[in-house]
Amino acid sequence: MSRLAVIGGTGLNKLVDLTDVYKRVIKTPYGEPSSPLTFGKLNGVDLVFMARHGFGHTIPPHRINYRANMWALREAGATDVLAIAAVGSINRKMEPGALVLPHQLIDYTWGRESTYFEDDLEQVTHIDFTNPYSLKLRAEVRMAMVSADLSLLENAVYGCTQGPRLETAAEIKRLERDGCDLVGMTGMPEAALARELELDYACCAIVVNWAAGLDGDQISMSEIERFAEKGMHQLDKLLKVFIK
Ligand code: HPA
Repeated sequence: MSRLAVIGGTGLNKLVDLTDVYKRVIKTPYGEPSSPLTFGKLNGVDLVFMARHGFGHTIPPHRINYRANMWALREAGATDVLAIAAVGSINRKMEPGALVLPHQLIDYTWGRESTYFEDDLEQVTHIDFTNPYSLKLRAEVRMAMVSADLSLLENAVYGCTQGPRLETAAEIKRLERDGCDLVGMTGMPEAALARELELDYACCAIVVNWAAGLDGDQISMSEIERFAEKGMHQLDKLLKVFIK
């Protein structure tokens, strides 16, 4: 039986419609996860929620203990992980406020603890990462997007930058030349660690701004907040259908 975990990113520190809620702190060999896990029911279905940046949104992307987070979710019995991530858009078809289901990623991060396979190994292990997101879980989310009447934006390449600063206009042009459609700061190593733990992992990206240089010469934080809220309404719709 599958059990769903939802990782909430910027703008999503809790799932408001959860019932029968309780929290549990989970210890891991990799230290502390970003937050205690929230267990509850959505539409009567059990799920686990984690606030990626902590409940108070205090942990920046490069300081998140991704290894502890994914370990804790598996420890809690999760088999499927839906990762919600705020992103900037480089692709004119993916406007602020939209939900996008990426199918590929490029990792531009550095210095993050990005594998479980490094100490006390009996054998060197290389996971297959040709398709970084679970084909099964993506297909399920895709179906829910269609049923929830959300515009279906899929097949996007997510570029994961180090942050916490936003990019320069020239960096975004480079990402565009590389084939990126979206840019965010938390997709890696999260996706790779999920694969190492054999969790089905998919990303639901919420576009909260045009990436640097695409719309004027500055990115407005108040605009980001406005679009994050719009994206959250769509996410609410999606989750309700997805959970059925
Ligand atoms: N760049 C990187 N990460 C982001 C952005 C962006 O423009 N918007 C939201 N997360």
